[in-house]
Amino acid sequence: MRVLITGATGGIGEALIQVFASEGYEIIAVGRNREKLEELEKRFPKRVVGYSVDLESSDEIDRFFESVDNLDINILINGSGVGEIGYFEDISYSDLKSMLDTNVLALTKFTKYFYDKMVKKGEGHIINISSTAGFQQGGALMSAYYATKAYVNSLTLSIYEEGREKGVKVTLLAPGPTKTNFKGMDKKLTSFEKLYVTTAEEVAKELWSGLKREKLIVIPGRINRILYFIDKFIPLKLKLKLVKRVQMKKIEKIFSF
Ligand SMILES: NC(=O)c1ccc[n+]([C@@H]2O[C@H](COP(=O)([O-])OP(=O)(O)OC[C@H]3O[C@@H](n4cnc5c(N)ncnc54)[C@H](OP(=O)(O)O)[C@@H]3O)[C@@H](O)[C@H]2O)c1
Repeated sequence: MRVLITGATGGIGEALIQVFASEGYEIIAVGRNREKLEELEKRFPKRVVGYSVDLESSDEIDRFFESVDNLDINILINGSGVGEIGYFEDISYSDLKSMLDTNVLALTKFTKYFYDKMVKKGEGHIINISSTAGFQQGGALMSAYYATKAYVNSLTLSIYEEGREKGVKVTLLAPGPTKTNFKGMDKKLTSFEKLYVTTAEEVAKELWSGLKREKLIVIPGRINRILYFIDKFIPLKLKLKLVKRVQMKKIEKIFSF
């Protein structure tokens, strides 16, 4: 069995490699960081093959697709993602575009390419990594990031329903705050944050256990699942205020170190 993981050089992606390698999978690892890819190939000999691809470049993605075209990919995990943080007017259009190219366009291109092949075969599994942010109707100070994840949620849940008739499984992984190199999550955690911030390893393990139970949506961390539930009862304007407060704390942290 073979799994293709984008974002494999980052916190959650790397933890997923560990889980899938220990379950006997061959792994196609995608990221930009060549050194990290080589390190992964050495750490998981004969299990991991790394491909350096800049997901902002449609041409690079096309070349990558050509080089793996003859391989049977059983599971695709779209894990790469970036998060621009700050007031909307302070983030350049070029940074917004880079984020949309990676979080939305590349994810769509990978999903389309492998989903189509899986439909033809009548089997396969697409796993898209979104975020609990994707369930919110807005997220001040990370506005466009929240919007990209709302897109991922919507696309993923829609093709889940279509794929069911065609033998293709689809899963949405929606982590909450997770300690990785992700912007704002790479700083030392306070004791309060340690109560709810998950580790990449926990996220990967919960995905695996969710896959075994054929879950459609996997939200790692008990507190994140409780928040997902009570979220529906909080008035919209209050929610928008609370999310802004959380992101402001993140910004203060980024600039305080
Ligand atoms: N950490 C959190 O708090 C959190 C919470 C909810 C959801 N998520 C989601 O989880 C996913 C993984 O994030 P993470 O926390 O593991 O972050 P991370 O440690 O920063 O890893 C991000 C990954 O995305 C890849 N990537 C980014 N831009 C790319 C590009 N242009 N081309 C190719 N690869 C690119 C990076 O690869 P290179 O560096 O090698 O380019 C890296 O492998 C993301 O989709 C993120 O939105 C994270």
